[in-house]
Amino acid sequence: MRRLLPLLALAGCSGAQTPLDPWGVQAGHIATLSHVLFWGGGALFLVTMGFLALAILAPAGLRRAMGSHGFLIGAGIAFPVTVLTALLVYSLGVSRALTRPLSEAPLRIEIIGRQYWWEMRYPDLGEGAVTANALHLPAGREVELNLTSGDVIHSVWVPNLHGKMDMIPGRVNRQRLRADRTGTLRGQCTEFCGAQHALMAFDVVVQEPAEFEAWIARQRAPVPEPRTPEERRGMQVFGEAGCGACHAVRGTPWSARIAPDLSRVGSRATLAAGAIPNTHGNLAGWIAAPQDIKPGNAMPAYARSLEGSDLLALATWLGSLR
Ligand code: CUA
Repeated sequence: MRRLLPLLALAGCSGAQTPLDPWGVQAGHIATLSHVLFWGGGALFLVTMGFLALAILAPAGLRRAMGSHGFLIGAGIAFPVTVLTALLVYSLGVSRALTRPLSEAPLRIEIIGRQYWWEMRYPDLGEGAVTANALHLPAGREVELNLTSGDVIHSVWVPNLHGKMDMIPGRVNRQRLRADRTGTLRGQCTEFCGAQHALMAFDVVVQEPAEFEAWIARQRAPVPEPRTPEERRGMQVFGEAGCGACHAVRGTPWSARIAPDLSRVGSRATLAAGAIPNTHGNLAGWIAAPQDIKPGNAMPAYARSLEGSDLLALATWLGSLR
């Protein structure tokens, strides 16, 4: 383990969830500020310790000089005041840069925090451009996140893209950001919102603009007809078990907004807001016993009410919704 520790420290500097590996303009400002504060603070600490060592070990003549009025005023008052004032001015400049718009008409994305999942809506891209627990972004285009909550206070944080921003019921907080690299990042709720706060994460998928357009078109389209008898049975079970009372599937009569939109649930990398990988087995297991995986979430368990074959058929149909 001891040999692994330096590796862990290095691993913290890049990756899908770190402010030290910026993927966009705003995160770049924050990373630079962090470096300036860390290395500047480190250098000042070393200089101070150097003076302390001198005060203890230096010859008497030098120590007397260090005790003079001039030295005390210069190094003890003027120097820290100058450094702290410079840092204050610099960090105020960074704060301004973080809120400066980059374009006239950013793409609006509404994110609604709920116990314990995320709803994402793209109002500029038409009806039905809705998903859950996965934020897709077009690379190189500024977006404005309109953040609110459907229940308690949450807070959204995608460290590679921007700082944290609270999601408050009855209020819309706005955060502009631009992702300049394609790939997958991870966002996390950073305000304690209940028992499953820690299992409230989401994937951030940054795509080339054309790929993003294709993704949006797929989100808006009604889901395809079931192709196999098992998928057909799965869709039937969805209706019989009452899943449609909370979940929406586009192109079907089910359009409730209480729980995550499942229209393209098969295409998401994770289930239950980043809690488990999205596999056939996990999907069936989640429907059967969601309280074992994420105790306290709003999804009821179906292990007792569904036949095994119906449970698997349901998971097969949902998994086919891509
Ligand atoms: Cu939502 Cu913490």
